[in-house]
Amino acid sequence: MQKPNNRLAGQTAIVTGANSGIGEAIAIALGRDGANVVVNYISHPEVAEEIAQKISHNDISGNAIAIKCDVSKEDDVINMFKQTVDHFGTVDICVPNAGLQKDSAMHEMSLADWQLVLDVNLTGQFLCAREAIREFLKRGMRPTISKSLGKIIHTSSVHQIIPWAGHANYAATKGAIVMLMESICQEYAPLKVRCNSIAPGAIKTPINKSAWDTPEALQELNKLIPYKRIGIPEDIGSAAAWLASDESEYVNGTTIFVDGGMTCYPGFTTNG
Ligand code: BGC
Repeated sequence: MQKPNNRLAGQTAIVTGANSGIGEAIAIALGRDGANVVVNYISHPEVAEEIAQKISHNDISGNAIAIKCDVSKEDDVINMFKQTVDHFGTVDICVPNAGLQKDSAMHEMSLADWQLVLDVNLTGQFLCAREAIREFLKRGMRPTISKSLGKIIHTSSVHQIIPWAGHANYAATKGAIVMLMESICQEYAPLKVRCNSIAPGAIKTPINKSAWDTPEALQELNKLIPYKRIGIPEDIGSAAAWLASDESEYVNGTTIFVDGGMTCYPGFTTNG
């Protein structure tokens, strides 16, 4: 874990799906660098509460609260933003991260599983980004706090470019996030909003447990990773903290792949 610094002091971040895996690491990293953090969750409130306490009780961190919200529900998202503004005053950083997989062969995929993945992974990111932009516009610039009006950091995936058999719904949402993020950048960059994505590769979290929980599975997985180690959630947390800070001020409308080289086609290390 990086040394803490104060680069996000005075700012407030909402991180969705922050009570496990990548979201948790992002919430902790933003808190570590001084931001107030909303730890969003949909289930296991006690875990979200524990993470919020951990962030709040660290001397150098900002404060954190846990807020329940189903990101696929418009009223829930509007209410989460309202609670955040009531508590912390505004929102400076929005990390729409909540996501899930409902995997199956395409010919066996139910409409319900297709729809659920779209609702959470894509509509959820749309609703959070929209509410964030509304709050940024309402609040206006605070030049002593940040050079940008606000920052949105979408959580995407290497599967925004790598097709994924057996996961058509999931890959479709990640492909769509690219155009959502880039369109937001094009529309709001003139107003000093920064909108970027982080595309994680294989990160050791509950979502992909079967890919790393036996030595055989891990060996197979490493064949897909030129750097030869599975990612850890903190790898993504560090990237998010940098992207949220003024150190990355000129980075806008881009996807940062944090994947150990997974998108560099390791299958082609020999002849094509
Ligand atoms: C998926 C993981 C997978 C990784 C690399 C992520 O977006 O959620 O299950 O291990 O991509 O394939």
